[in-house]
Amino acid sequence: MEDHFLSMNSRIALRVVCFGTLLLLVTISAGAQQSTPLITNIQGRDTISLNGSWQVIIDPYETGYYDYRFQPRGDGYFKNTKPKSPSDLVEYDFDSSPQLQVPGDWNSQDQRLLFYEGTLWYKKSFDYQKKDRKRLFVYFGAANYVADVYLNGEKLGRHEGGFTPFDFEITSLVKDKDNYLVVKVDNKRRRDAVPTLNTDWWNYGGLTREVRLVELPSLFVEDYFLQLGKGSLDEVQGFVKLNGASAGESLSIEIPEARLKQTVTTDSRGLAQVRFPAKLQLWTPENPKLYEVVISSARDSIRDRIGFRSIEAKGPDLLLNGKPIFLRGISIHEESPLRGGRAFSDDDARMLLGWAKELGCNFVRLAHYPHNENMVRLADQMGIMVWAEIPVYWTILWDNQETLKNAQNQLEELITRDRNRAAVILWSVANETPVSEPRNAFLKSLIDSARTLDPTRLITAANERHYADPSTQVVDDPLGQYLDVLGCNEYVGWYDGLPEKADGLTWKVTLNKPLVVSEFGADALYGKHGDKGQRWTEEYQKDVYEHQIAMLKKIPALRGMSPWILTDFRSPRRPLPGIQDFFNRKGLISSRGERKQAFFVLQKFYRELMNEGK
Ligand code: GCU
Repeated sequence: MEDHFLSMNSRIALRVVCFGTLLLLVTISAGAQQSTPLITNIQGRDTISLNGSWQVIIDPYETGYYDYRFQPRGDGYFKNTKPKSPSDLVEYDFDSSPQLQVPGDWNSQDQRLLFYEGTLWYKKSFDYQKKDRKRLFVYFGAANYVADVYLNGEKLGRHEGGFTPFDFEITSLVKDKDNYLVVKVDNKRRRDAVPTLNTDWWNYGGLTREVRLVELPSLFVEDYFLQLGKGSLDEVQGFVKLNGASAGESLSIEIPEARLKQTVTTDSRGLAQVRFPAKLQLWTPENPKLYEVVISSARDSIRDRIGFRSIEAKGPDLLLNGKPIFLRGISIHEESPLRGGRAFSDDDARMLLGWAKELGCNFVRLAHYPHNENMVRLADQMGIMVWAEIPVYWTILWDNQETLKNAQNQLEELITRDRNRAAVILWSVANETPVSEPRNAFLKSLIDSARTLDPTRLITAANERHYADPSTQVVDDPLGQYLDVLGCNEYVGWYDGLPEKADGLTWKVTLNKPLVVSEFGADALYGKHGDKGQRWTEEYQKDVYEHQIAMLKKIPALRGMSPWILTDFRSPRRPLPGIQDFFNRKGLISSRGERKQAFFVLQKFYRELMNEGK
């Protein structure tokens, strides 16, 4: 009794603090990274696609941006200058330049660009019928890595980070005819960037996701967050942000199917807090119920399909809607296996998640960066829980404040885009980062931001383990104290000994929290067969899976796994001729869609778990 009363008060106090800080953060951050706040749910807006063919100029020396003194030019390629007379000297011409498809990385579209890292300029011309009392924005699903964006020769802004959306307002700049949108995209790797110089995935460059014009009323629903309150099964909480509004604007949030309608009012920042009781069918993998939700203001209305569920960690248990769950997962890179290159489309997502379902998965780890929105929206519909991650990968510059701001911004853009997706249950702030004080502080501040931006979800990171003695593995990364779920990558049987080594190992997890083994696996070239002791064969990979599963089953705190990885994927770190050929071959499915023997080992294990109701 005593305890319950106390915790009730502190929980209410915490809620007020959380949402107070959240509202504040939403207002402040709006201006920090880019001039225009990130607009949520573009798929629910009036948009005009700019996808398709774009003219491009490959510019390894950034001649279109810098003069010969390496000073920024005023007359760069963003001016799209045309010679006005035969004697005029203009040394570039978008309109007679090659074309690339958008969305799409440049590496898989042109063999000459497969290994290209540098600047490439994109240009798209379009006409636009201006409308009264309408504002116009240009929205990018993502651009890897740094994008400088110009309209009709004017700079709109810059975005850094290759896997999250951004937008700019162009109402005052757009013309009826012959607009030219120019984007300088540079995917050069930098030591101070996020990710940094070294990754085990292909550095696909370009406008890798959709580009859209977004038409909005002068006062529009910019952002919203509607989920069940932390630990609640029957109360919707969140906020709605009106862009361009001040205090006293009335808004309604409606869930027609549940006959629910709530009216709220904005404060001076155009923000309205939301909180109302709601008896709803809860989202589960077996029954991924999504409700149509309608948010309306005097001049704007937006619809979304949202699932409602609670996710918690209690001791070593993971609770979905208050019931224990086990995460039958697989890790996935955002690569379209059969077509090659960055995945971006609904079809790509359907293929990847369809294969995960075939494996028996109820969970996927989308590694190591935010995947496209089609992926998470489809996971919502298919009932697949999601681990979402930002590319704080390996050894980032922990002491660099700009690097931290960059990571913060990527985290915020990810959470802003996906926090209404019931499927997303985990935000991961890092992968395999070396323990140190500066690293702990860096990650702690990301964890704090994630909790402020979204108090409802669980926070994790894919950390490493070490040996207390030759047969005891210990999971005790100091970061664990700040996490809700302990992620751990281990490669017993591949980088660490031979497959049977797993048989003699025990695990010591020092914190009473759920453990998810976020990576294990082995490379195998599809069709390469031999003795199970022979590396690169399907038999070796199968053997690793069999020993791993037997070992992992014995860990009391294990509440999930996401083996590395669903499909073979391109990596610049894997040159072995005839076997890797610049592919990481740890996929259970080859880059041509062929299932390896280990695929069926994991499938069988997941079917057993399903039969046990897990
Ligand atoms: C690491 C890392 C992955 C990498 C994998 C591998 O654990 O997180 O990005 O691809 O190991 O070596 O195959």
